[in-house]
Amino acid sequence: METQPVKGFSKLSKEAKIEWIIQNYSNKPEESLQMLSGYWHTQPEVQKLHDEFIENTISNFYMPFGVAPNFLINNKMYVVPMAIEESSVVAAASKSANFWLDRGGFRSEVVGMVKVGHVHFIWEGSDIDWLNDLFEHQKNLFYEHTNALTKNMRARGGGILDISLLNKNEFEPGYFQLEVKFDTRDSMGANFINSCLEEIAKTWKTLVDERKASDQPEVTIVMSILSNFTPECLVRAEVSCKIDDINEGSGIGNLEFAEKFCRAIRIASIEPYRAVTHNKGIMNGVDAVIIATGNDFRATEACAHAFAAKNGRYTSLTHASIENDTFRFWIEMPLSIGTVGGITSLHPMVKFAHELLGYPNASDLMEIVAVAGLAQNFSAVRSLITSGIQKGHMKMHLLNILNQLEATDQEKIEIVNFFKDKIVSFSAAVEIFCKIRGISVESISAKH
Ligand code: MEV
Repeated sequence: METQPVKGFSKLSKEAKIEWIIQNYSNKPEESLQMLSGYWHTQPEVQKLHDEFIENTISNFYMPFGVAPNFLINNKMYVVPMAIEESSVVAAASKSANFWLDRGGFRSEVVGMVKVGHVHFIWEGSDIDWLNDLFEHQKNLFYEHTNALTKNMRARGGGILDISLLNKNEFEPGYFQLEVKFDTRDSMGANFINSCLEEIAKTWKTLVDERKASDQPEVTIVMSILSNFTPECLVRAEVSCKIDDINEGSGIGNLEFAEKFCRAIRIASIEPYRAVTHNKGIMNGVDAVIIATGNDFRATEACAHAFAAKNGRYTSLTHASIENDTFRFWIEMPLSIGTVGGITSLHPMVKFAHELLGYPNASDLMEIVAVAGLAQNFSAVRSLITSGIQKGHMKMHLLNILNQLEATDQEKIEIVNFFKDKIVSFSAAVEIFCKIRGISVESISAKH
């Protein structure tokens, strides 16, 4: 029989939620219960924190927390924390960090930190000049009415930077926006921005509706919300070296490597099929640091891809050039992130990640994250144009395959050793595993 809908689920205790879930949805309730509770934190107060991050928490979802050492960024050494499940990402970041450590390291700078939000409203009046005048003459009210909300932010040097009235009637009849720009200092600022926007929307509706002539329409507020597209919250990171100093080690000449690298980047900039994969690789590095530092990877992803398509065609976030005898490689991307607020002072691993990075402020963290993206992309493109991606990737993936086969530690050592000078594939791994264990390949195929 179909499971019946559950009423008041969120009000149940955690134990009661698990009980209901496993009774209705697990084939092995006892095992599921053990597995779920096995992932609870051993310290009840830490588990309570996790329980309270979201609604209906029944357990925790672990991801590996790795570190990539030897990142030299603006002449300072960093160990970069990365939370990611994909086997080769941390190894690729570390490889890139080491490569550039010997060539002057990464330079990174914040171009701007402006965030933005909108009150989307409809006003179908005919006298748009009247609306504009009202807005211009009463603009100070928005600042006054948000004073209490912005007080602390202003004390930290941030707040509302600018408010403008935008006419969007050409896209939708009667559609206007109040566009508000913000400086949210070291916080990502989503709650701050949304609270200010909702207050501004109230002020605007009252203002227009009170002053309008009797035959004019009222304002309809559609919604008030920050935009996760923040092209003015921008960071740029770069590496460069003399072409003669590339000495990349794969046997390909320095100039040939630099030219092939630049060509690969040009392909990513003109061909969206390649650009998406190329940028996905960048986001491997970006997201891993974003998650480790307790930031919002969905916002970061959405913004990065919108930025990559800002000129009407999806293109690469990284760029490369050869100027005279110098190879340059850089990234420019928007990153709206914070080092205070959210879970940054709550999640123990996130707190540790910030400690590891020397408690960066938001702009320092933007610089570090952009470098992680650039480093990741360098490693990926370097492999793609030399050995191919699978060599390194499958080597890192080998332990996943062996875990899937339930290999013992001793078998793992032997098999990893076996593949030292060979290319890893799933079937080759199965073959050597079966040989060592003395079982037939067919017995494995039946199981997997
Ligand atoms: C895999 O996660 C990422 C790559 O595909 C990125 C790229 O192709 O540039 C290796």
